Amino acid sequence: MKDIYILGIESSCDETACSIVKNGIEVISNIVLSQIDIHTKFGGVVPEIASRKHVENITLVIDECLKEADMSMDEIDAIAVTYGPGLVGSLLVGLEAAKTLAFIYNKPLVPVNHIAGHIYANNLNKKITYPSIVLVISGGHTELVYLKEEYDFKIIGSTLDDAVGECYDKVARVIEVGYPGGPVLDKMAREGTCEYSLPLPLNDNSYNFSFSGLKSAVINLAHNEKQRGNEINKKNLACSFQEVVSDVLAKKTKKALKEYNIKNLLLAGGVAANSGIREKIKNMCEENDISYSFPDLKYCTDNAAMIAAAGYFAYKKGIKSGLDINAFSTLTIE
Ligand code: KG4
Ligand code: ZN
Repeated sequence: MKDIYILGIESSCDETACSIVKNGIEVISNIVLSQIDIHTKFGGVVPEIASRKHVENITLVIDECLKEADMSMDEIDAIAVTYGPGLVGSLLVGLEAAKTLAFIYNKPLVPVNHIAGHIYANNLNKKITYPSIVLVISGGHTELVYLKEEYDFKIIGSTLDDAVGECYDKVARVIEVGYPGGPVLDKMAREGTCEYSLPLPLNDNSYNFSFSGLKSAVINLAHNEKQRGNEINKKNLACSFQEVVSDVLAKKTKKALKEYNIKNLLLAGGVAANSGIREKIKNMCEENDISYSFPDLKYCTDNAAMIAAAGYFAYKKGIKSGLDINAFSTLTIE
């Protein structure tokens, strides 16, 4: 069978990225230009600045990607691009670049949902087995997805309020440990002991999640201690926070695996880089005879290799779009 080379473009938030992936599994080149240093000063992503930086970076990233692969556009079979969900001003930059390439070089344009990309980051590590349950944990999403077969997604549960990553970032802001909160709190949690008692978030029988109550509990605890003139032990608080988050994620994932009678689990999204969550999910899988696969750390946070990998499976399914395709701030994978 002929090898298929997909060039992927990702610009949904604050990373400008381009990658070439062969047959949905082998990364030929992968370039990511992060704007994190710029947005850190503001304690979060500033959409207007993000779009302007994407405009500055997009052609550099595409050129560098082709150079690293030592390939020309003639050797590319299709262009995959994130068209949502994300910041519309940011998405449009990648989308316009992809449309331009598709038009000039007469290549198919394959629209990819950012979350489908996060899920297919797993395929860059090990070929995905179907059916699988996927625990999607990112800055904007927390979902349990039933991946019945290739590129066939069904959301079986999601967060009723904050996403896990968002909760990490907000807690980090309140206890003043910097941005983005996820990696910082993860490191602190490893160095602390879980001495604070926090409520297990939405500990019910559904597949849904809720993290706003936990976020409020941490904020209240921090404020109360401050008012009493006590200093909180931030590392211990991070440890307790990470423990309840990973407990509830593991508990609901286990329930989904059991009730859907699925023997394979995947993790996806930026928060899938979390050491505590990886450990807890791994233990849960081993105890229940479930095979599991996690994306490599470098493919957990936003990148274009995951978009090219997902794009390969979308391309195989015949999914393509015209040059009039728009960007969407919200978009479901179903
Ligand atoms: O997947 P992503 O790029 O977001 C969306 O696509 O929405 O992930 C970004 C999120 C941020 O909230 C960041 O704090 C979190 O992933 N994150 C982590 C870790 N590394 C990144 N959260 C917890 N632990 C980590 N090690
Ligand atoms: Zn993402």
